[in-house]
Amino acid sequence: MALKAVGRLVCGAALGALVAGCSTQEPVRSVSAPVAEAPAAAENSPEALLARMSLERKVAQIIQPDIGSITPEDMRQYRFGTILNGGNSGPYGNDKAPAADWLKLADAIWEASTAPLPDGEPVIPAIWATDAVHGHANVPGATVFPHNIALGAAGDADLVRRIGAATATEIEVTGLDWTFAPTVAVARDDRWGRTYESYSEDPALVTKLGAAMIEGLQGRPGEPGYLGPGKVAATAKHYFGDGGTAQGVDQGDVNGDLGELMAIHAAPYPAAIDAGVASVMASFNSINGTKMHGNKPLLTDQLRGKLGFGGVVVGDWNGHGQIKGCTNSDCPQALLAGLDIYMVPEDWKALHASLVRQVKDGTIPMARLDEAVLRVLRMKQALGILDGEVKPSARPNGGKWALLGSPEHRALAREAVAKSQVILKNAGVLPLKAGARIEVAGSAADNIPQQAGGWSVTWQGGGDLTANDFPGATSIWGGIAAAAKAAGGEAVLAPKGSPASKPDIAIVVFGEPPYAEFVGDRKDLAFRDKEGLALLKAYKARGVPTVAVFLSGRPLWVNRELNAADAFVAAWLPGSEGAGVADVLFGKVQPTGRLSFSWPKTCEGAPVNWPEGALFPRGYGLGFAAPRIAPVPLDETCSALSHDAGAAWFASGKLGARVQALADNALLPDLRGSGNGIVATGVDRKAQEDARRIAFGPGARLSLTGPASGAAFRITYLVNQRPAAPVTVTAGGKPLDITQGLSVAEGKGWREIVLTPKCLGETGGKLTFASEAPFAFQIGEITRDETAAGAECSF
Ligand code: BGC
Ligand code: BGC
Repeated sequence: MALKAVGRLVCGAALGALVAGCSTQEPVRSVSAPVAEAPAAAENSPEALLARMSLERKVAQIIQPDIGSITPEDMRQYRFGTILNGGNSGPYGNDKAPAADWLKLADAIWEASTAPLPDGEPVIPAIWATDAVHGHANVPGATVFPHNIALGAAGDADLVRRIGAATATEIEVTGLDWTFAPTVAVARDDRWGRTYESYSEDPALVTKLGAAMIEGLQGRPGEPGYLGPGKVAATAKHYFGDGGTAQGVDQGDVNGDLGELMAIHAAPYPAAIDAGVASVMASFNSINGTKMHGNKPLLTDQLRGKLGFGGVVVGDWNGHGQIKGCTNSDCPQALLAGLDIYMVPEDWKALHASLVRQVKDGTIPMARLDEAVLRVLRMKQALGILDGEVKPSARPNGGKWALLGSPEHRALAREAVAKSQVILKNAGVLPLKAGARIEVAGSAADNIPQQAGGWSVTWQGGGDLTANDFPGATSIWGGIAAAAKAAGGEAVLAPKGSPASKPDIAIVVFGEPPYAEFVGDRKDLAFRDKEGLALLKAYKARGVPTVAVFLSGRPLWVNRELNAADAFVAAWLPGSEGAGVADVLFGKVQPTGRLSFSWPKTCEGAPVNWPEGALFPRGYGLGFAAPRIAPVPLDETCSALSHDAGAAWFASGKLGARVQALADNALLPDLRGSGNGIVATGVDRKAQEDARRIAFGPGARLSLTGPASGAAFRITYLVNQRPAAPVTVTAGGKPLDITQGLSVAEGKGWREIVLTPKCLGETGGKLTFASEAPFAFQIGEITRDETAAGAECSF
């Protein structure tokens, strides 16, 4: 990232008062290699800087707060080594902040971190990390590349390397230094909500593509340009086992023989380390019962000792707080186990105080702190930050807005989309015929937030995002329309399908809504939404051939749709360049995408990582020349679907089986009617009266009772006007005040709350909302979900 001011005067000019002297740089060696020889004793070498730092400033180097909870003034006072923006935080409290605001805040943080200090204490610029996990996608207008699962299907290391390079450039434009990518999880249970962040279930493919992404982001160690201008620091995450938890539960437990587990889940790390990866993020999960953040044998003995990693080990979002005996603000255990940076979004002040105290009282040896700080400083040194670096906007790519979402980067993303399309079925309708009259249906057809998926502008993606939040992006429909025209045909968009049309062919685009992390965990792999199926069947009934384009973050059981469609394309989560889908449908690009995950034959979700049990094995995917597959009807029975009644407490405008709604003790049949201060009326969400508006009088209470079939409640809701007084929710434990969450949701459209035992205490068979003052909100759905022990609540 940095402007390496090799032997240039800018060195002294920019940082003269702060970091005395400048060294002439040698080609930077790998930051992930263990440091054996004594480095040059330049005055601004990490060792020299460390020797002049106070305890307080050392501790600040290993504390990483979120931009949402610090100001430049806090930075000036504390001098944190690094900061991050979480998926939901953007500059100045705006998660949709425009690109220029990112650079402005980067400069402000830079200036605060480099303000001179008294008493000869050295000044060390802070660096900023972001989750650029499929392009610099937190920033509106950036190129959004397909998620990793799609890149796995493309299987092209050179493509991935080029994507890394483009992403690094876009990050630099906005003044940031470091990305928490690539995820090198080997997802083995597709019920896991982060499966799409994994390139493949095959450790060898993850290893290859992970290393390529690192090289693209950082450059190659030993070669000129490594971590230099146009490059950012990368992170291999989450070490390790994140794709191997029992039942695919996020942040869960991984069990088994350590050697066997490492052979799969730690397999990508040696290649990542050889590629010079600057940092490794510890996983939230535990291995055989011990949380990774506190696991010295694995974090230190294995990662440092056996695998020889010499870079920075960064924690995950309050991951240290999950160690037994720790809280977010008090956890010497993590540092002692081998963590170098605490990711502590909010509780940084108290954590700083406790760590300072623990070093003073000997709980933490100074040597361990020094080692962690040195690693942070070495990473900065490798980035050129200690050597005459200038503020973010003054760096070579800083503020070059033409590079953000540039035509070249978009072309690259489009290439990736085309290369990742996997044709699962083709009864002779693909490629589309030139001149065809095409109808394009499905709510996902012209839906950029949905095709981008999670980690896009916001953490969860989707929700209230619209195409306006992705300036410059092209929807799948947009690509089809242009391609149809170019081929001398015509395409019309009819999201719901026009009732009596007779096009030559219909393309139905449908799939999973966006999600991220544990919110995407599922109990099984049944694809339930029937929108696509109904459209496919309606066209079939009229004799119109169909192409199904399926958007998903993982293989799902879609036997019904496969039976109904004449052609079926797994399009994954393509990102901002939807035109890459049409490139394959129209035969402009040959379909070379092949499954990097086994596609399941049945819906229950037991892991399938081998041909046995797969409908389509890994490596499957049809070319245009492939023999047409006979349209054998696939088995449409799915036992998971029959459990649904128990899981849904309220869905599609109906209460689930054995679920009752009550206003205090007065029954509200169908969650409709009034009594005891509650007025429940039907409102439209996706269909007529499929949701309810619940109005509370002062002190009124609404309860639902039903089967406690999963530990969590997942509630789809909408708030038009924030509550004026406390609103609480209870499910058997202490009432939880949700006023703040509801206030944040004001005017933001449909959102989702996930309530787990973590915040509710109990999550039994009765859920009660109570409001002290008049208040109204809408409920679209309430379901019970399995959840990981200890999973956080989210709003
Ligand atoms: C995720 C990480 C991410 C971090 C910062 C965590 O919840 O697990 O992958 O890098 O948040 O947003
Ligand atoms: C943040 C994410 C983070 C997650 C952790 C969210 O609020 O925005 O970056 O990964 O919390 O659970």
